[in-house]
Amino acid sequence: MARKFFVGGNWKCNGTTEEVKKIVATLNDAQVPPQEVVEVVVSPPFVFLPLVKSTLRPDFHVAAQNCWVKKGGAFTGEVSAEMLVNLGIPWVILGHSERRQLMGESNEFVGDKTAYALSKGLKVIACVGETLEQREAGSTMDVVAAQTKAIAERISNWADVVIAYEPVWAIGTGKVATPAQAQEVHCELRKWLHANTSPEVAATTRIIYGGSVNGGNCKELAAQPDVDGFLVGGASLKPEFIDIIKSAV
Ligand code: G3P
Repeated sequence: MARKFFVGGNWKCNGTTEEVKKIVATLNDAQVPPQEVVEVVVSPPFVFLPLVKSTLRPDFHVAAQNCWVKKGGAFTGEVSAEMLVNLGIPWVILGHSERRQLMGESNEFVGDKTAYALSKGLKVIACVGETLEQREAGSTMDVVAAQTKAIAERISNWADVVIAYEPVWAIGTGKVATPAQAQEVHCELRKWLHANTSPEVAATTRIIYGGSVNGGNCKELAAQPDVDGFLVGGASLKPEFIDIIKSAV
């Protein structure tokens, strides 16, 4: 079964109301391939979710950039999966390296978050990826496998999961992985899924690449057989995000 190309835009902690309205207007005016060819999900900060959800074109969808690990309550500052469902937000990004590194989110915590979000009906973009030190030590696949294992041990239904491989050393640095580097990890990760979940999960789960994707490098990356799309940071705030969507093959 062909895996539908997936392009996510992670706006991170950026934007004002006026800037968000401009980005949405640019997206709404864009000529892009149909939904049957490419799935587009944009992820604004929590505070702009209702605005983006209510003004974005209906063929694009919205993701939160995180959610809490269980039902809401006395967890100051957190946003629960139930709240996202209540807002009609279908997707959530979990395990982003910035949260793993800055907020100390462990593999197990990300796995628990993923399981809980799925249990409440959210679809999850689950992020994995190694640091430069880990890559240089030759432990890329050990790291990515451990991050994925912590999710696989807690879920059984992968239908609503997209895996985002985001090498930490490529995020925000301009040092994009080469197509060969991305393909190698995506292929090994798909083999890991085949051996540790099922052949069907391995064949159908989208594995997308993130880390300095832009309008100039997206085509070559998209041409790799195991690259099923992108999770875009900085470039998702710019008109070139449309070019990245058009790289859908
Ligand atoms: O989640 C996507 C993000 O981490 C990639 O950021 O700016 O390197 O495209 P960027």
